[in-house]
Amino acid sequence: MNKLLKLSIVVLLGAAVIAWYDPSLLTGNTNPFVKYHHVFAKLTFLNPVLEFFGIHHGKRPSSSSSTQKTADTPPEPVTESSKAANEPTRVFTKEELAKYKGEEEGGKIYIAILGKVFDVTRGKDYYGPGGGYAFFSGIDGSRAFVTGTFTAEGLIDDIEGLEKSDYVGLRDWADFYMKDYTYIGKVEGKFYDINGNPTKYYYQAQKWIKAASKYKEEEDIFKEKFPMCNVDYKPEEGTRVWCSNASGGVKRDWVGFPRSLYSAEGSKNVRCACAQESDLDDPLLKPYPNCPLDAVTCQIVPPK
Ligand code: HEM
Ligand SMILES: *[C@@H]1O[C@H](CO)[C@@H](O)[C@H](O)[C@H]1NC(C)=O
Repeated sequence: MNKLLKLSIVVLLGAAVIAWYDPSLLTGNTNPFVKYHHVFAKLTFLNPVLEFFGIHHGKRPSSSSSTQKTADTPPEPVTESSKAANEPTRVFTKEELAKYKGEEEGGKIYIAILGKVFDVTRGKDYYGPGGGYAFFSGIDGSRAFVTGTFTAEGLIDDIEGLEKSDYVGLRDWADFYMKDYTYIGKVEGKFYDINGNPTKYYYQAQKWIKAASKYKEEEDIFKEKFPMCNVDYKPEEGTRVWCSNASGGVKRDWVGFPRSLYSAEGSKNVRCACAQESDLDDPLLKPYPNCPLDAVTCQIVPPK
């Protein structure tokens, strides 16, 4: 009886979670992969796990190596001048592009991101009829690449007012298509006019993306300077934080000492950071009370 009760609670909670993420799941009857994809795609906290397994080529985090790449090499494809020699000249109207969903035009599938059109026919399992990402084909649904809102309202080329991390995400997706598929032209819309010339909005968008890239770069450098601590919690031992040479996912040849790291002086926004000796007098750092300054582990919450 007790078991049955627990089971029904779990089932009910599960249904509630599904209904919350995508109500159509409980009512609609579209392709199951698309349906469940909506659920998964909204569980963005899973992204680090996916990235870890390398599932998401397009969303792979720009690790330190690619951070350096952005710093030392010429701008990436998406931020290149639109007059590059290999720039395709074809310009699609929205109506024209909409034909390329894999059912007309000899089964060809095109998608657009930031106004650039890519031939993704090779990925028809994803983008073709019934594919988990079919909603991207035949349109410029740039915004949905980072919001995960795969509805008509979400699949638009308006990318105003996004978070910095979203602009970085968009840049990474555009670079992914540039690398893995064929860039074949432009679509008339927010980014390009009917002649394929960049619009004012295009230049504005470049600014958003550049600013976000710069911010991300600085953030990455900061994260390597102050990697996160490992955290352990056991009811009988309380909570302890500790440093290791790979804590916070930052592999390094030093371990560091646990400190409270404030996002700014006087800020309440704080996390645990591992700091190396040379950084210990940084004003953003505070030692943990009752923890020796040279300890690698600090008890921050005593056992109950
Ligand atoms: C904003 C959210 C997401 C977007 C915009 C998105 C978009 C995409 C796109 C465009 C592809 C095809 C890439 C290609 O052409 O090779 C893809 C592949 C894939 N996605 Fe997502 N995705 C999202 C979230 C997720 C989540 C949360 C999961 C799973 C929990 C997931 C699982 C997969 C898998 C398994 C593939 C196939 C990867 C491969 O075989 O290379 N996606 N995604
Ligand atoms: C990190 O620590 C492990 C053992 O704790 C050691 O085997 C490894 O060599 C260390 N790596 C570096 C880069 O120091």
